Amino acid sequence: MANEDTPDASPAEKLPESIAIIMDGNGRWAQEHEKPRSEGHREGAESVRAITRECARLGVKELTLYAFSTENWRRPEPEIFLLMELLKEFLIKERAEIMDNDIVFRAVGQLDRLPPEVYQEYEATRDMSARNKGMILRLCLSYGSRQEIFEAAKKMATLAQKDPEAFEALEPDDFRSFLYDPEMRDPDLLIRTSYERRISNFLLWQISYTEIFITKTHWPDFRESQLHNALADYASRERRFGGLIDEEVV
Ligand code: FPP
Repeated sequence: MANEDTPDASPAEKLPESIAIIMDGNGRWAQEHEKPRSEGHREGAESVRAITRECARLGVKELTLYAFSTENWRRPEPEIFLLMELLKEFLIKERAEIMDNDIVFRAVGQLDRLPPEVYQEYEATRDMSARNKGMILRLCLSYGSRQEIFEAAKKMATLAQKDPEAFEALEPDDFRSFLYDPEMRDPDLLIRTSYERRISNFLLWQISYTEIFITKTHWPDFRESQLHNALADYASRERRFGGLIDEEVV
């Protein structure tokens, strides 16, 4: 669990290359501020802007944000409409910022379920930024990890039929080439705001060895200094990937 008093620091030598975030608590933030839920989502979109900018500035290589889950389609129609509007607004307004910061923009998920006007803006931003060389900003939209794994398994089954030799030669790590973004690095750090202690169908395959940071802060209040706290906490951890560290004596 996060120590909320960790000093504000961003240690360059132990900066995670890849960060994933479950952005939670927009609704609770709104409730605590006696505002409608829509205001929570609007403030949450501001946090997306601030955290993207700061991660790019610090030299993070990939930032993956859980923006809309397959389960979120079950929310009331007006809330879905607002989230899609905010997304569209973000895709249009942030284009200049994305280009200025050399960010590569991508989305993963069941993107064919997005409203056509949102999908069009997504394509435009993706294509415009495709040749940039800086941080990858990846939004998970209409995303569910079980769906991603299931679809990957189906793609593998197709390969088994079409090219049994290639299928037999596959190694466990090759599974990533069937996932939505085969180039995605496994996240080094997963942040979840608003203190729910679950994974909620997010990147189940990719987070096998990821360090997890859970904070009580609601997403709309998660800004630069909260990110620095998470990074300082991450830098203090010893990652062993199931092995031992060099100095350990058996
Ligand atoms: C959780 O809050 C947040 C989401 C539904 C996803 C994140 C959405 C945004 C940050 C808005 C805009 C996004 C972009 C990319 C511009 P919640 O409603 O589940 O909070 P609660 O659990 O407190 O009700």
